[in-house]
Amino acid sequence: MNIIETKNYEDMSEAAAGYVWLRLQSGMRVLGLATGGTPIGFYERLTERINTHSHSLKDLTTVNLDEYIGLGAAHPNSYHVYMQEHFFKHVDIPPQQTYLPDGKAASPEKEADDYEKLVTELGIDLQLLGIGANGHIGFNEPGSPLDGRSRVVDLTEETIEANARFFEKEEQVPRQAVTMGIGTIMEAEEILLLASGAEKAEAVRDMIEGPVTEEVPATVLQRHPNVTVIADRDALSLT
Ligand code: GLP
Repeated sequence: MNIIETKNYEDMSEAAAGYVWLRLQSGMRVLGLATGGTPIGFYERLTERINTHSHSLKDLTTVNLDEYIGLGAAHPNSYHVYMQEHFFKHVDIPPQQTYLPDGKAASPEKEADDYEKLVTELGIDLQLLGIGANGHIGFNEPGSPLDGRSRVVDLTEETIEANARFFEKEEQVPRQAVTMGIGTIMEAEEILLLASGAEKAEAVRDMIEGPVTEEVPATVLQRHPNVTVIADRDALSLT
């Protein structure tokens, strides 16, 4: 694991944008994307670079990690809208090359199976990840199989509470999601994980130093040959 420590959130975002910008310039084909509070600054800075250089993303395909079940593509709290607002609408990427699971699919199980096929066929060059305070990646909560594929999952109370800040009320946070599995994520050629803030410090310590265990899903990244972690001082304060 390659660990890059930055002073703060802004520097983490800048370093991550620079990292992905290099990959885009060298013709990366499939980029795996993540949501949550952590990558917002990254998307802002990456967008700036792309537009300053008038770089077209017409040959790029993106696949997101996850989507809430029950939220349609136009729902303000859906990850579809998050991606539009923070990235897609600001850059030149064909909408038909940007994939997220459909949270309103008639059968979420079938949607997860179809998404798994899509991701496996595309093959991810670089997968961006955040990390939950409980060590989750995507929506793979503690106890998820380390070789799991894309599927429907129940969110833990901790994650529902943590994500309630994006909703008006906690009751509005969906209880389930479709997520890429840990096994799916591990097949990406390269992984870039971002972490910021003291509330992530325990999870980050376990991810880097702890035993590999389903109880902290991110620990599985120790088994991946090409992982870079860009984290700020607070997130790395326990390592
Ligand atoms: C969310 C997402 C994850 C994200 C994590 C941390 O539930 N499904 O992809 O990495 O939780 O989010 P945040 O960056 O807001 O702390």
